[in-house]
Amino acid sequence: DKGAYPYYMLKEVDEQPAVMRRIVSEYFDQAGNPSVDEAILAEMAKADHIYIIGAGTSYHAGLVGARLLEKYAHIPTSVNISSEFAYDRPLLSQKPFFIFLSQSGETADSRQVLVDVNEHQWPSLTLTNVDKSTLSREATFTMLLYAGPEIAVASTKAYTAQIAVEAVLAKALGMYLADDQAQAFDLRAQLGAVANGMQAITDSKEDLEAIAARFLSKPRNAFYIGRGLDWTVSIEAALKLKEISYVQAEGFASGELKHGTIALIEEGTPVIGIITQDRTAGLTRSNLEETQARGANAITIVARHLAQDNDTIVIPDVDADLTPLLSVVPAQLLAYYTSLGKGLDVDKPRNLAKSVTVM
Ligand code: F6R
Repeated sequence: DKGAYPYYMLKEVDEQPAVMRRIVSEYFDQAGNPSVDEAILAEMAKADHIYIIGAGTSYHAGLVGARLLEKYAHIPTSVNISSEFAYDRPLLSQKPFFIFLSQSGETADSRQVLVDVNEHQWPSLTLTNVDKSTLSREATFTMLLYAGPEIAVASTKAYTAQIAVEAVLAKALGMYLADDQAQAFDLRAQLGAVANGMQAITDSKEDLEAIAARFLSKPRNAFYIGRGLDWTVSIEAALKLKEISYVQAEGFASGELKHGTIALIEEGTPVIGIITQDRTAGLTRSNLEETQARGANAITIVARHLAQDNDTIVIPDVDADLTPLLSVVPAQLLAYYTSLGKGLDVDKPRNLAKSVTVM
């Protein structure tokens, strides 16, 4: 039931702080240590390579998870689009471990990969929002997202829940492997800070509605740009805008713009820079300025400690690897208000189904 909300999507965006807190209560013990089934950690510890498999938004969440797993567990991790992996399987390592990301647990493209994985008797873990879903039943292990039912076609809280659960897994596996950095990473406190930060962003809806109306309601195309983790959020942000507002949006590695795509920038093209990482903030800013010099309307989503006078949207500071949990939220709301402003059916965009059970 969406209660007083006009659309499920807005309700689900607003539920994200509560989902973060639920994940903390499900996956941490009294002492503040992550509690993950030891059988999962023991199996993962044997792997020489982790293959994350997902489609759409779940694939995007995997891009963030890979970074966390590599940082804390030191196991090389690649992220794969399920429909590609199913028909063009790359050369695998000797001891692969598979992580399936799927909100619904029913995506046919991802299941196709799992069938192959099971035929080879490779170990697997599904992160899903739906207990006893197909991908949960057929994988070796399951971890639930605890996001509550997601009804809107555009995935929001499942993306942030997937990243949070991946972070729990990365910390737990890192600790299991006796990594000092994993031990020192106070993820429980950080997820609490994330929940508060999400709340602050969802409390500023009016600003985001105004930005959407001013910059995104008319143009037929738009760009999100960033580097590293900010790039991974840029492709998720662009997907949200595309699927519910029908603006042709592209997420782009900002350093790549000058290698061709900048030709598309014209007067009034919205270019939204995501800037949360110390090492690349200056670079993304100068890429954004290059688009501005060609007529773009530059908009910024910036972590507070990097903010400057003219920034558009400033988000609270959290652990550098967890910034996607916050930077995506304004993008979800910009997509929502752009769709709403055009009078579209936000929850049920054309041509799309909630769960894609065909290949
Ligand atoms: C986008 C969206 C889709 C899904 C994709 C995978 O907002 O919802 O891209 O993420 O169809 O679905 P799941 O996660 O259920 O496997």
